[in-house]
Amino acid sequence: MFDYPIDLDTPEACEIGFTSDKFEGYLWQDGKYIIISSIKSLQPRQGHLNALFANIQGKGWGIKVTNPLPVMEAICKKKGFTLTQGPVEPGICDDIVDIYVLKGSNPVDDKT
Ligand SMILES: CC(C)(COP(=O)(O)OP(=O)(O)OC[C@H]1O[C@@H](n2cnc3c(N)ncnc32)[C@H](O)[C@@H]1OP(=O)(O)O)[C@@H](O)C(=O)NCCC(=O)NCCS
Repeated sequence: MFDYPIDLDTPEACEIGFTSDKFEGYLWQDGKYIIISSIKSLQPRQGHLNALFANIQGKGWGIKVTNPLPVMEAICKKKGFTLTQGPVEPGICDDIVDIYVLKGSNPVDDKT
C-alpha cells in the first residue's frame, strides 16, 4: 500500500502546487515518490503539470505515473520516464499496469 493520499489544497499539496484552481484528482506519497494516477489539468497547456513535476523534483523526490492516458503517456516518454510494470495499488488493487518512473535526486528510501 502507498503511504498516504495527497488531497488537493492540503498543506502537503500546496507545497508542490497541487491546488484546486489548477487540478482535479489526487496524488499519493510513496516514500520518496509521488504517485500520479488520476489527475486532470483545469487549465491545460499552461505549464501547470510541468510546474508540478518541477516542484516534486525540487524536493528530491521521484515521480511515478500509473496506467496513464495517452496524452500523459506521451508526456512521460517526452520527459524521459522509464516504463515499468507493477500493481495499481499494492495490496488494494494488484492488477498489473504500466508505470512510468522518473527517479528523484534523493535516492534515500527508494523502494524500487
Ligand atoms: C495530461 C495533462 C494533465 C497535462 O497537464 P497540462 O497542465 O496541460 O500540462 P503542461 O501545460 O504543464 O504541459 C506539460 C508538457 O506536456 C505537453 N502537452 C500538454 N498537453 C499536451 C497535449 N494534449 N498533447 C501533446 N503534448 C501536450 C506540453 O507541451 C508540455 O511539454 P513541454 O514541457 O515540452 O513544453 C492534461 O492534458 C489533462 O488534464 N488531460 C486530461 C486528463 C488526463 O489525461 N490526465 C492524466 C491521467 S494519467
